[in-house]
Amino acid sequence: MAGQFEGKTAIVTGAAGGIGRASAIAFAREGAGVVVADLNIEGCEETVGMITAAGGTAVAIKTDVSKSSDVQAMVKKAVDEFGGLHFAHNNAGIEGAVGMTADYDENEWDRVLTINLKSTFLCMKYEIPEMIKADGGAIVNTASIAGMVGYMTMPAYSASKHGMLGLTKTAALEYATKGVRVNAICPGGVQTPMVDRMRATQKKEEFEALIRAMHPMGRIGQPEEIADVAVFLCSDKASFITGQALAADGGFVAQ
Ligand code: NAI
Repeated sequence: MAGQFEGKTAIVTGAAGGIGRASAIAFAREGAGVVVADLNIEGCEETVGMITAAGGTAVAIKTDVSKSSDVQAMVKKAVDEFGGLHFAHNNAGIEGAVGMTADYDENEWDRVLTINLKSTFLCMKYEIPEMIKADGGAIVNTASIAGMVGYMTMPAYSASKHGMLGLTKTAALEYATKGVRVNAICPGGVQTPMVDRMRATQKKEEFEALIRAMHPMGRIGQPEEIADVAVFLCSDKASFITGQALAADGGFVAQ
């Protein structure tokens, strides 16, 4: 598929559905060979099927991003299949249980921090050396508006996403002269299976009203609107942008 990422390789994690699937499709549309990684291998294969049906190139790999050996295998897959690694959208994540800080379960805290934050460290740890070998690259980490402001009843999630921004900025500084740019996207509410799970815990009308009230644009975002930001941040059009947390949130953090 001809496009600005012709001859390049991208890894997208959490790509069995939601934002990750939209991102994998968007990178493939731009011509990249895409490694579609997720715990949910059936979902990965569906994503690969969608990409190949549209004329793109992708491979699926079952990956638990919180496990070092899985992350190393994911990066190796990119190199073995496509000859190198240029882009990574580290996007897999979980919302975790809801609860006030003083009531929050300690094991749940560890689970959310491991899957959201440690995973981002592991992904970057193994992606960056391959990008340097490939003469440069770009990383986009999916944080959240909950990484920019506090988010009541989601202490672990909010802390993990704030942590991801610290990690993003630090890696951006470390590799700024080595050709690897590192940025984060902070989505507002986006229509994905994650939001469907949250919607299921409340009355539908109340949840819809909350979403409208939250976002100055008065609507929820679509996964493709986040995928487009990931593609932009990896593109040459973003060549002087590193260490940024870019909100794609219908105006939420501007309030
Ligand atoms: P989703 O639940 O639809 O997709 C997340 C994907 O990550 C799933 O396919 C899941 O299988 C995968 N995953 C979970 N744990 C994993 C692990 N240990 N290893 C590999 N894969 C794993 O959620 P969505 O909405 O697409 O979320 C993507 C990212 O966007 C997450 O990091 C989330 O925190 C973030 N985000 C989502 C927002 C929303 O409103 N949907 C808002 C702000 C941020």
